[in-house]
Amino acid sequence: MDLITLKTWSSEEILETVEAGLLMKADPKRFSGALRGRTLAMLFQKPSTRTRCSFETGMNQLGGHAMNLDWRATNFQLADLRDEAQVLSRYSDVIMARMLNHCDLRELAAGAEVPVINGCCNRYHPCQALGDLMTVREIRGKLEGAHLVYVGIRNNVCNSLIAGCTKAGVRITTVTPEVNKPSEDEDLTDRARRTGLFRETLDLEAAVAGADFLYTDTWIDMEFFEDPAYEAEKKRRVEAFAAYQINMDLLDKTGALVMHCLPAHKGYELTAEVMESQRCVAVDQAENRMHVQKAILTQLLG
Ligand code: CP
Ligand code: NVA
Repeated sequence: MDLITLKTWSSEEILETVEAGLLMKADPKRFSGALRGRTLAMLFQKPSTRTRCSFETGMNQLGGHAMNLDWRATNFQLADLRDEAQVLSRYSDVIMARMLNHCDLRELAAGAEVPVINGCCNRYHPCQALGDLMTVREIRGKLEGAHLVYVGIRNNVCNSLIAGCTKAGVRITTVTPEVNKPSEDEDLTDRARRTGLFRETLDLEAAVAGADFLYTDTWIDMEFFEDPAYEAEKKRRVEAFAAYQINMDLLDKTGALVMHCLPAHKGYELTAEVMESQRCVAVDQAENRMHVQKAILTQLLG
């Protein structure tokens, strides 16, 4: 079993993982030897703070070991992806990879002999969505009936929230005037619509009024920073999305808590005042990534 996208995980698997994450947070000692002697290989084509540190600490807390591989310091960049993945499988029990392109992640999983976890590609960020569901469950006491409103660009995080929320009984409304092209996934949208839990609108004020959680993410994904067109595209997006910023004026229109996967870009998708307010639970989300990933690792490794 892999965790490439939540599209292939059942509602039961998602709910069980969230509950296991809560258990691990409440009583970490009980699980301290669960993965003794096991090794997690972490492969990064893109930068990371939370994903890298939460997986490494989580694996350590379970009694296992994590090794960090920067793509550019390995022969992955020279060799056939499937071959290198197969070899890496002989040194590790599970692989977590943050790849630029979803198709390369699939290629890596095809070559691997061990479970593969998506650590955020251009289309999905399933570990983030599972940690976020755990945060919603922790705050509300239950998932069913919660309403999360995602504001900004439709991207990898948004896709995984749509898949995760609709499978976990959480209503999700997106206010996304644009799609980040590599994240486009009509199949995901169709499936989500059929659940009756997913709605799309551009009426920000109406959506926000009925929200329990207001979620936003960067308007520009991290891989764009090295793109030659970055400055011009940033200027265009800042103008296009300015009306969708989460600021205090918007928060005054709702009792919702604010969520963000981080890193946040203060002054863009949300203001510093919002980020630093009591209403923002982004740091709890970041912590919960670690607990839920411990649950994912133990689940995938049986
Ligand atoms: N939210 C998240 O995945 O953060 P990093 O990019 O720092 O890993
Ligand atoms: N959408 C963001 C998520 C970062 C964790 C990105 O891909 O850069």
